[in-house]
Formats: sequence, structure tokens, C-alpha cells
Amino acid sequence: MVENSKKVFIKNFGCQMNVRDSEVVCGLLRKADYQLTQDSEDADIIIFNTCSVRQHAEDKVWSGIGNVVKKSGKVHKAAKSQGRKKPIIGIIGCMAQNYRDQIFERAPEVDFVVGPSDIDKIPAILARIIDHKPQAADRQIYQLKIWETDGQLRPENIYHTGFHEEKEHSYVVISEGCSNYCSYCVVPYVRGELHNREFKDILQEIESSVKSGITKITLLGQNVNAYKSGSVNFVKLVNSVDRVEGLKEFSFLTSHPRDTSEVLFEAMAECDKLKKNLHLPVQSGSDKVLKSMNRGYTRKFYLDLADNYRKIVKGGTLTTDIIVGFSGETKDDFQQTFDLVKYVGFDAAYIFKYSPRPNTEALKWPDDVPKEEKEHRHAVILDLQKTISKGKNAKI
Ligand code: SAH
Ligand code: SF4
Ligand code: F3S
Repeated sequence: MVENSKKVFIKNFGCQMNVRDSEVVCGLLRKADYQLTQDSEDADIIIFNTCSVRQHAEDKVWSGIGNVVKKSGKVHKAAKSQGRKKPIIGIIGCMAQNYRDQIFERAPEVDFVVGPSDIDKIPAILARIIDHKPQAADRQIYQLKIWETDGQLRPENIYHTGFHEEKEHSYVVISEGCSNYCSYCVVPYVRGELHNREFKDILQEIESSVKSGITKITLLGQNVNAYKSGSVNFVKLVNSVDRVEGLKEFSFLTSHPRDTSEVLFEAMAECDKLKKNLHLPVQSGSDKVLKSMNRGYTRKFYLDLADNYRKIVKGGTLTTDIIVGFSGETKDDFQQTFDLVKYVGFDAAYIFKYSPRPNTEALKWPDDVPKEEKEHRHAVILDLQKTISKGKNAKI
């Protein structure tokens, strides 16, 4: 064990999965006697938990690293007080997996790179970096570069450190990775194939969280509806969570339309503790685009689901994700998305401009909607959604 009063600051980017992963890393580091700090200036170790879903997400991380490095040696308090030029810098999460050791080429100040399936190794990696005795003349910087990006499965025990960022709410991962391979999406390449946690482990995590004061949970997965462990599917899991004593409220994220059915809506209507919120990303309203996105459903299938949800889960909210300007999206395809958004009347919609991603199928196709046109389509849907949301609030 490292003798330790070292302070760690974690900067989080990306989705709720990363929020939970940062919490897991904090839990593991606290067990190894590190202290957590909210102040990057005060930190001996700065970890960026990163996202690769769009180019913009990655750009934010690169400039975040740049900012830390710029400050290093000038004003960085913790490093300076120990006679070093900079804090230890780690890149973890989806970008780590996407770029692996190439990160060191673009940002030589980075000391370690750890993919999403290797986060259990972070305490040992830090111990090696801290203990390393540099041979070169300049002893002021940590010189060991370490990258771990070959892990396949996370050990179950990382979810049981007992550490929670929030007092009453916690995220519970039910499945890791994704095997859907939507043609635009990097997630299967950075998070690996879908892996379901065992039912008993999930329940144990929830029950012990509740004992420690948590009253609300969010079940997490890239496609929660595909959950299956032995004879337990997602609907059975939801029913079991609803019966956990002491739990007051729960919800889940994210649902894939192809794996969503009326059986789930009925469970939603019946489970007292389950919040009546469904996030059901549609991505596009055009059958042609949905097919090229490899989403596995049609416009009609989605519209029927939305109608049935509203009928069965009375008063439930419905939110979505939309990508505009996907490869090959014509004005007519876009119009169909516009019409769908107008028809369904979502409570909220997250609208994204298509961003080509490494490794994905769509990367082979032309990114043929010009930037200005993507921006225009983005603004048009945003405007429509604002009007819809305003109308809804007025009704409440
Ligand atoms: N597993 C979830 C969320 C995946 S990422 C799902 O399938 O719904 C969150 C959202 O980012 C996606 O729903 C999609 O709308 C958007 N997204 C993913 N890849 C993208 C890309 N290459 N360009 C633009 N938006 C993207
Ligand atoms: Fe990406 Fe599709 Fe999986 Fe969602 S379902 S994470 S969009 S591949
Ligand atoms: Fe981003 Fe990885 Fe989540 S790419 S959206 S942090 S799974």
C-alpha cells in the first residue's frame, strides 16, 4: 500500500455511466487512502474521465488537459509546493480506449491511460508512478508512462466500495457495453460488447446502498431493456427493485426502441416506486436513415410505441435523442424527423449534429450534410422542441 496523503481531483465528462465510473474510482482510491479534492489546484493527481461520443466531447477534454498543463509549474499549488512541475495526469474512460498510448504523443504530460474495463487497476498504477525512481537528471517530474486498455470484464467488487457522491441518490450499472452497433456510434468500440451484471449482485448493491441511506436509484445501461441474467429479464428486474424495502424511488436509462415493449409499459404503470419517465431515443424520423443507422425499427414502430406508452403509463413523460445531418440525410428525411417530433410532442429532446467517429461503419460514408446545413437543421428542431416544451409547461 502507498503511504498516502495524496489528493485526487477527478474531472468528469460524458454520460451518467461516466458519472458512476468516476464515483467507483473515487471509492477505490479512498480505500487506498487517497484523499479526494474538489479543487484541481490543490490536487497531486488529476484524472480526466473522458467521452468520445462526438468530436466536440473530445475537444473539451484536450483543452482541459491543455489548461492543467499550462498552469503547471507556474501556479499549480500542490505540484509547486512539492518541487514538481506538474501533478500526475491520468486519462481514463472512453477516449482512453479510443486512443490508447497515442494519447502520450498528443499530450506528453499525461502519465497514465486507463480504459473503461481497467479502472480497477488505477490504485496500483498510481502506486507504481509515485514509487518510480527516475533515472534521468530531471527528477522533478514523474516519468513512468502506463497504459491499460486490454481489460475485458470489470471485476464485480468495484461496484461495492460503499462510496456515494450524493446523499440520497445513486446510479446502479446493470449492464456494461453495447452490442447494437448503430452505424454512427463509438460506444461498442470503447465500452466493449454488452455484458449484464448478475441479478443477485445488482440487488445486493441496491440493498446495501439503501442501508447506507440511499433512497433513490437510477438503473444504468446503454440499452437497459436488453438486460438478461439467467431467467431474469429487465421487466423482472424492475419488479424486484420495486420491492426493495426502504427504497423510495427509482428510474432507468437508456431504453432502445427495438427492445422496448408494452410489457415494460405495464410494469411501469404498476410499479409504485418507478418514476414514470421514459427516455426513448428515436434518432431520426426517416425509415431510410433509421435503416442506415442500423437502429432496427421503423418510424411506424416508434410511433406505435410512443402512442402505447402514453395510453398505458398515464401522465408519464417521454424524452428522446435526435441526430441531425447524418450521412445521406436529405431535406425530405429531415422533414420526416421534424414531423415526428411535432407529432409525438416530447417533453424534452436532446439534439445532436452528426459527428463521424473512428471505427464506426458510418465513417466509411461521406459526411455529406454541410456544416451550415447541420447547424440549420439543429436550430430548427431545437426551436420546435422549445415551443412544444413551453406548451407542456403551460398545461401543468
Ligand atoms: N445508448 C444510448 C445513448 C448513446 S450516446 C442510446 O442508444 O440511446 C447518447 C446519444 O448521443 C445517442 O442517443 C445519439 O443521439 C448521440 N450520438 C451517438 N453517436 C453520435 C454521433 N456519432 N454523432 C452525433 N450524435 C451521436
Ligand atoms: Fe450506441 Fe446504439 Fe449502443 Fe446506443 S444502442 S450505445 S447509440 S450502439
Ligand atoms: Fe461518452 Fe462513453 Fe458515455 S463515449 S456517452 S462517456 S459511454
